[in-house]
Amino acid sequence: MAIDFSGQRVLVTGASSGIGAGLAEEFARRGAVVRICARREQRLDEVLSRCRVHSPDSRRWVCDLADPAAVDDLAAAALDELGGVDVLVNNAGIPKRRHVTRLDPATVESVMNINFFSPVRLTLALLPHMLERGDGRIVNISSVAATLSSPGESAYDASKAAVTSFSESMAVDLWQTGIKVLVVYPGLVDTELFSLPDNEPVVAGVEAVPVSELVGGVFDALDSGAIQVYVPGYFGDLASGKAGNVEGFLSGTAKYVAKHQAAD
Ligand SMILES: NC(=O)c1ccc[n+]([C@@H]2O[C@H](COP(=O)([O-])OP(=O)(O)OC[C@H]3O[C@@H](n4cnc5c(N)ncnc54)[C@H](OP(=O)(O)O)[C@@H]3O)[C@@H](O)[C@H]2O)c1
Repeated sequence: MAIDFSGQRVLVTGASSGIGAGLAEEFARRGAVVRICARREQRLDEVLSRCRVHSPDSRRWVCDLADPAAVDDLAAAALDELGGVDVLVNNAGIPKRRHVTRLDPATVESVMNINFFSPVRLTLALLPHMLERGDGRIVNISSVAATLSSPGESAYDASKAAVTSFSESMAVDLWQTGIKVLVVYPGLVDTELFSLPDNEPVVAGVEAVPVSELVGGVFDALDSGAIQVYVPGYFGDLASGKAGNVEGFLSGTAKYVAKHQAAD
């Protein structure tokens, strides 16, 4: 049954483009009061104007989630201005695709900071208020990269694996509290993530799906109360297949990459 989000307070991080923008707009269309945040002010304004068509009380906050103090300020603003958050969508993320031989510790730390430490910090800041109400949803955008060992993405994959592990353990801890956790595993979604500067090219053999397909999958999962969702769904079968034969999966991937590079 479709959840009634009307009047619910929804905070979506990284909503100036791509998946975050698509999710924010759909929450607004379903009547939620949306708060969106990211660094690019003008892009946020464009998304906000589309949200406000359905949900006039929606607002945006410009913030750099790489800064822990900004994350704390964001949580404080959500509590002060909104009185709490009913649905937290931890979506902001960066790829930093780089072969492991060209990776340095500072890059790994920056990826972990935005993709893992920042959403964890925001979650922990907002959790007590959800617990007080005995209600709330935390939607964490992980990636199929968390389990599928994508080449040239070891820092990114590790950050998303951390998101998954944290989310699942948190779900167990919160099982009896009324707070629900949803972990989202996008496959390849057509967004700006693949044209950002300072990233090496993607080695991919699958076609990207539109943001609308990912958004539909997330809302179906929310409506059904699922704890995880892969979009497209066949990535879930790939993850199970890998778990049954890790060596076969890794050697197959390495062969695919070598063939792909030889063809370039
Ligand atoms: N596209 C895919 O195929 C795919 C697959 C698996 C997982 N994902 C995940 O989906 C999420 C959304 O990515 P996307 O594909 O929609 O790419 P995107 O269009 O590049 O969106 C990334 C969002 O994160 C925000 N962001 C990045 N660094 C930030 C920072 N320091 N502070 C605040 N906001 C920041 C960006 O906004 P500003 O630049 O304006 O700050 C943007 O709104 C990410 O977590 C990504 O890892 C995507």
